[in-house]
Amino acid sequence: MKALVLTGGSGVRLRPFTYSTPKQLIPLANKPVLEHVVTHLRELGVTEICLLTGDWADAISAVMGDGSRLGVSLTYLRQDQPLGLAHAVQTARPFLGDDDFLMYLGDNILADAAGRVAEIVAEFRERRPAAGLVVQKVADPRAYGVAEVDTDGSVLRLVEKPPQPRTDLAVVGLYYFTAAIHEATDAITPSARGELEITDAVQWLIGRGSEVVARRYSGFWKDVGQAVDVLQCNRWLLGELTTDVRGEVDPVSELCGQVVIEPGARVVRSRIEGPAIIGEGTLIEDSWIGPGTSIGRDCVVRDTYLLDSVVLQGASIRTPRRLHGSLVGRFATVGPGEQGDPGHRLMIGDHARIEMTVA
Ligand code: DAU
Repeated sequence: MKALVLTGGSGVRLRPFTYSTPKQLIPLANKPVLEHVVTHLRELGVTEICLLTGDWADAISAVMGDGSRLGVSLTYLRQDQPLGLAHAVQTARPFLGDDDFLMYLGDNILADAAGRVAEIVAEFRERRPAAGLVVQKVADPRAYGVAEVDTDGSVLRLVEKPPQPRTDLAVVGLYYFTAAIHEATDAITPSARGELEITDAVQWLIGRGSEVVARRYSGFWKDVGQAVDVLQCNRWLLGELTTDVRGEVDPVSELCGQVVIEPGARVVRSRIEGPAIIGEGTLIEDSWIGPGTSIGRDCVVRDTYLLDSVVLQGASIRTPRRLHGSLVGRFATVGPGEQGDPGHRLMIGDHARIEMTVA
């Protein structure tokens, strides 16, 4: 079985980060979203993987390479425009041939520690329905594909982002397909929003009487669309790490909970409460780093209280203010102003957001 990972999309809701990086490369627990996706596919037993890229093809291939580092083989194909998930399948046909495959949306995080997704995929591989869906109960299904599922798990109907959903079962971004899907993607026409929807292709299979099944998954699942999603996924993935201290921690510093200190990192006169990860070559000095925090490589954090945040490579932070729920971009600086400055001085990028509380 092969896998197709979709890495297109503009990431508008994650600006300004997505001005310089695709959302699929944003780090969670210090690893790009795509690395979590590819590692999950390897755990599911799939190593022949195609990354379908859009405008960020070069940045993605520079980070992901040929996949050997992660024990998989990566092939790259280009989708010139994001014309829909079914269009993505059509574009990847030269890679897919007539093989069965998993399609994984490259901005979805499924933390499958309990192995439920692995069980579902194993069942699909064995049974080989024309299409196999993973569904999850959500509070507001209007932003998703929504499935109506019979008591035996067969899918009766599938609708993309219905304004009035008939069930609360959202389609998760991991699909199983046999070659039957290709006839379906060729048969459908673009939706009202101008996309060739995979939902319509699967509905076409249902209409033709093909077997389409859905299995419920209630573990962690999120698509990384906005800053709050990044923080939530980061928190969850940090919770799955085991303590590993390979950097230097001076004798007066304290680590508690699950903490990863990567090689070359230094912790000086500080307290780190896990789950947290401190990246390679980073210096933490006279600071308190709290749960849910990932600090990337080559950062400097001094005199700072920082909690539940993601700090990207090369950033520098020094502030007497408590920071929480923050995303700090690459090589960004948060620091004290000049003596006598009449107020705060901000140099922030387009679409950046700062929330200040009164001390
Ligand atoms: O996250 C699950 C949902 O994903 C499903 O419930 C929906 O049925 C499904 O349509 C999809 O909805 P989204 O609105 O989240 O899809 P989005 O347009 O954000 O695309 C998902 C990923 O696929 C994203 O990483 C961008 C990439 N993509 C998207 C399109 C339309 C491509 O690579 N090419 C494309 O043409």
